[in-house]
Amino acid sequence: MSNFSDKVVLITGAASGFGRLLAEKLEAQGAKLALGDLNADGVKAVAGALDVSSIACSCDVRDEQQVAEFVAKTVAEFGRIDIAINNAGIGTPMKSLVDTSEEDMDFNFAVNTKGVFFGMKYQIPVMAEQGGGAILNVASMAGIAGAHKMTPYVAAKHAVVGITKTAALEYARKNVRVNAVCPYFSPTPLVAKGIDRDVQEMVAAGAPMKRLGTPEEMVNAMLHIVDPDNTYMTGQAIAVDGGVSAI
Ligand SMILES: NC(=O)c1ccc[n+]([C@@H]2O[C@H](COP(=O)([O-])OP(=O)(O)OC[C@H]3O[C@@H](n4cnc5c(N)ncnc54)[C@H](O)[C@@H]3O)[C@@H](O)[C@H]2O)c1
Repeated sequence: MSNFSDKVVLITGAASGFGRLLAEKLEAQGAKLALGDLNADGVKAVAGALDVSSIACSCDVRDEQQVAEFVAKTVAEFGRIDIAINNAGIGTPMKSLVDTSEEDMDFNFAVNTKGVFFGMKYQIPVMAEQGGGAILNVASMAGIAGAHKMTPYVAAKHAVVGITKTAALEYARKNVRVNAVCPYFSPTPLVAKGIDRDVQEMVAAGAPMKRLGTPEEMVNAMLHIVDPDNTYMTGQAIAVDGGVSAI
């Protein structure tokens, strides 16, 4: 497996964490990269450090027009999109359900769910027209199970899993594979900033492997899902969780 040479890969949220690491690993395998992020300087810096053909776009996934333009720029530059990874996402401070505000819910849905929806809305027609492609939506273990004090994130990520399965059904005959990955906690900047150290230690202890997964382990699993040889997997929500979902 793992032949991404000359494949055109679009990644949202590519300035940091999983998105950045995906770009670096795909560079090593000769992919052509379209990198988007709300953090325009950050994503330019990531693209600038790559040795492969790449473009960097300022793209807020909450804004349908910006997502449409990012997809259009990718096609204008490379002529196609083989793989799209809808990875941009945010977390909000942990709160019990009764302390959660409507704004917390709206913010999570705007970035984590609608951002993925807008991405697929513009990526799918390109892939259908060219004869196929693979989409990977970065959900979370919070997309397939409850998570203490994370109501808005859990709701938004469950929605990601739902729209992933629906898109997979609608476009299977167009040879567009659509899957979601559901990582357990991993120490990216999102977790370092948003989750207290003692909570990180507690969730690590709760995993059968008794540790968190590294960002590299998460990204390796994501690359397996979108591998061009992995042609019959679609509509799945795949946990990468050190065994947590088997408990
Ligand atoms: N790290 C974990 O433990 C973990 C676990 C499960 C799921 N996830 C998911 O993985 C994805 C990547 O997270 P990460 O851990 O690498 O976090 P991160 O904070 O390191 O990276 C997220 C990136 O998304 C960008 N972003 C945020 N809002 C955006 C917007 N509106 N438009 C475009 N870009 C935006 C940020 O600028 C940042 O570069 C997210 O969807 C997150 O929910 C992470």
